[in-house]
Amino acid sequence: MDQGIEATKLRRLFTPITIGNLRLANRIVMPAIHLSYTPQGFVTDTLIEFYVERAAGGVGLIIVGGCPVDEYGGGPFMVGLSDDEFVPGLTRLTQAVHEHGVPLAAQLYHAGRYSLSALIGRQPLAPSAVESSLTRETPREMSTEDVHRTLNSFANAASRAKRAGFDAVEISASAGYLLSQFLSPLTNLREDDYGGDLESRMRFPLEVARAVREAVGPDYPVIVRIAGNDFVSGGNTSREACSFARELEGAGVDAINVTGGWHETRVPQITMAVPRGAFSYLAGRVKQAVNVPVISSNRYSDPALADRVLRQGAADLIAMGRPLIADPELPRKAREGRLDEIIRCVACNQGCFDHIFSLEPVACLVNPRAGQEGRYELQRAASLKKVVVVGGGPAGMEAAITASRRGHRVTLFEEHGRLGGQLNLASMAPGREELGTLILSLCGQVEREDVEIRLAHRATSSLVLECNPDAVVVATGGEPAIPEIPGVESEHVVQAWDVLADQADVGQKVVVLGGGATGCLVALYVAQMGTIDAPALRFLVENKAESWETLEELVTRGVKDVTVVEMLPKLGKDIGLTTRWTVLQALRRYGVEMIANASVKQILPQGVLAVIDEQERLVGADTIILATGVAPHNSLHEELKGRVEDLHLIGDAKVPRKAYDAVREGFEVAMGL
Ligand SMILES: Cc1cc2nc3c(=O)[nH]c(=O)nc-3n(C[C@H](O)[C@H](O)[C@H](O)COP(=O)(O)O)c2cc1C
Repeated sequence: MDQGIEATKLRRLFTPITIGNLRLANRIVMPAIHLSYTPQGFVTDTLIEFYVERAAGGVGLIIVGGCPVDEYGGGPFMVGLSDDEFVPGLTRLTQAVHEHGVPLAAQLYHAGRYSLSALIGRQPLAPSAVESSLTRETPREMSTEDVHRTLNSFANAASRAKRAGFDAVEISASAGYLLSQFLSPLTNLREDDYGGDLESRMRFPLEVARAVREAVGPDYPVIVRIAGNDFVSGGNTSREACSFARELEGAGVDAINVTGGWHETRVPQITMAVPRGAFSYLAGRVKQAVNVPVISSNRYSDPALADRVLRQGAADLIAMGRPLIADPELPRKAREGRLDEIIRCVACNQGCFDHIFSLEPVACLVNPRAGQEGRYELQRAASLKKVVVVGGGPAGMEAAITASRRGHRVTLFEEHGRLGGQLNLASMAPGREELGTLILSLCGQVEREDVEIRLAHRATSSLVLECNPDAVVVATGGEPAIPEIPGVESEHVVQAWDVLADQADVGQKVVVLGGGATGCLVALYVAQMGTIDAPALRFLVENKAESWETLEELVTRGVKDVTVVEMLPKLGKDIGLTTRWTVLQALRRYGVEMIANASVKQILPQGVLAVIDEQERLVGADTIILATGVAPHNSLHEELKGRVEDLHLIGDAKVPRKAYDAVREGFEVAMGL
């Protein structure tokens, strides 16, 4: 054990381990992340630069993919492994990563009924013709010939991976993809040898494991990724997952990678509301069932937590996917005890999961360089400038950090007594607490840079000009927009921002006007008032103090009666696709009434008068919370126009949008200075 590791106390995380006979320098695994950097499947410089940077950061193992094993397996932007034509590019990738001494595995992937016919150009295949609620498509039931062909595709892809220099392969049997579909009684209705009881449903996945083993030989590591629990009613649970893992071990698999549920589950798997390491118990159960190394996955943004899970024996390795998109240097920083310097993934999904679902390449809110490593090198600027940034929200902070990193002399003005801007409010909402991590991370970076921070300074144009700046970045954010509704000035009308900041009292019967992100989150915030917290719940469960029904009620029924009234046909339009359903589901579970298509006519002492589906209705309330959007706060920019040559307007001050856009704009503007 060297001193660097000693210092971190993260000894388990940095203790080498072997998978089969592959030695890993530490126990941090970058799991498969479909990045969409490979049009038509061919390896690009973007992909290589992305992984090389993670390898240089000291990760123990990189799993590349998913790599569709054949033309039914997945879409054109995934890493190709279905044909020899992909081997030269893959070889370039493995060689580049190996230069940093980091091994790679290729994930052998087949989405089955999760494939989209529009992307694969044919009807998807699955064990049975059961419609997918994810794609709304019904697949074609695989014939025996299809089954054999697919088996060969897995085996051929595995030997291709080996030829391309990968050090291991991982078979994807999780998340509701093809092999999960064979395992589940919900999607496998077959009456041949591949369907029926669990033993028969495991037949195909186990045949795949054996065929892959045969293709790569006895000494080559084979990992299988499984769902620790499908989290789909009537599907497999952790009990079946353990049985499957045991069988896989028997089939010669060298490690089991345990993730959470299916894409179709209604249990959030990777959103911000999922507690860090929440699914470690799933790996823990599998680990009790097998003797090969077990990888635990999902929401390990904190290396100290990862180390604790290893120490406690719930897993042997920890997967960190988005955390390594967020900070490629996470392993090195953790190893050197520089935990504060880690830029933490906050599981916002704005740049990664949301992008994938809209067929865009993966990016990252907290790391604007992700996926653009080659394009953006943080080099010193050719001419060093005096830069004034006005506004200490995410856009302004990122601009200040990046400008300072490039050598500019930066002064950052913030009107309030603390940095963070709107993030401070957003982080108050239930399930959004992780945004506080983003504030801490940005603050830490600003402090580590040589930025002069002037808090509680409202930057007037004369104050800015007194600084004699070469460039000014205006990131003054937005302010709540006040709708022109009669009665809006009444005393029982408060702003969502004030409620989240705990600066406004709310009564018992609450109407939130506006069902965008802020409206939904403030509604959840109010609806949770009076519910019990996690320690109280644990205490009550341990002591069997209440029935399960009462416990559920205590968690989801607070003391307020909340209604959200929205003009548009849908609520949460500005929440990312992969998070929106979880927020709407939470609102329903907390008993929040949601009214869409409502046009508010007047605010009355006893509530809100609105036309809903062409009918006038009084929605009773003693408090009305306004969440009716944000207006750009750009007056300073107007004042400085023509007086500063190099003047920029960014973030919400330009157009109110998501934190992702704000940070990106801050970064890009500073890269151009
Ligand atoms: C954009 C994106 C793409 C992903 N693609 C895959 C994939 O192709 N195969 C797979 O097994 N898991 C995939 N995952 C799941 C990740 O491997 C990982 O389990 C998940 O992100 C949770 O871990 P994290 O919190 O460490 O990111 C993907 C996740 C994201 C966010």
